[in-house]
Amino acid sequence: MSFDRSIKIAPSILSADFADFGRECAAIEAQGCDWVHVDVMDGHFVPNLTFGPPLVKAIRPHVKTVMDVHLMIAPVDPYIAAFAEAGADIITAHLESGAHTHRTLQAIRASGAKAGLAINPGTGIEDVDYLLDMVDLVCVMTVNPGFGGQKFIHSQIDKVKRLRAMIGDRPVHIEIDGGVTPETAPLVAAAGADVLVAGSAVFRGGSVADPAPYGENIRAIRAAAEAATGQMA
Ligand code: DX5
Ligand code: ZN
Repeated sequence: MSFDRSIKIAPSILSADFADFGRECAAIEAQGCDWVHVDVMDGHFVPNLTFGPPLVKAIRPHVKTVMDVHLMIAPVDPYIAAFAEAGADIITAHLESGAHTHRTLQAIRASGAKAGLAINPGTGIEDVDYLLDMVDLVCVMTVNPGFGGQKFIHSQIDKVKRLRAMIGDRPVHIEIDGGVTPETAPLVAAAGADVLVAGSAVFRGGSVADPAPYGENIRAIRAAAEAATGQMA
């Protein structure tokens, strides 16, 4: 996994058919996604439940690109090794999930995975500053975590701009998660984000039996984002 700031589209399988994750992952990859985003929720840190390490392990062979695992769980530290062993390439933990984020990020890197740090819409970037040399990715939540299909929170665009300046030359991705569509993607791409998570906007209209809409949706988001950054579509 080499670092670059090209636009990467990461469909969230939260919007996939839960009875068919393996084929859904293969379908979105065949349709041109860059990463596969896996949302783990515990019904405690967020008001929704999804799945744990055994499911991540089960879908690993079906993901050929990058498996980006977003942990919305508290506590997070006791589960890091299990998600790394399940095959996560990136493990992202929330700044709000515990008092010792520095230790959590150390544990993620020690597990062999790349380290991501997610921040909720109400969290400022001040506390990210002294962690920037320990992370590979900062995930700016543009909805309150817990559910797909929510409305994009526009106040986060300014946060992305300020975070991009704070990151400077460090090889750290800015990921956006929540409410990404062809309408909102250019706003965050212009502000400095390079990884765009999209659940409902990728999976809408398609299925494993009819995956072409996945490709159309991915291309529409990518083209809108690239046009905003001056990258070639
Ligand atoms: C929200 C999750 C997101 C979500 C995005 O808690 O972390 O990854 O699935 O879904 P959309 O793109 O539908 O907002
Ligand atoms: Zn997510």
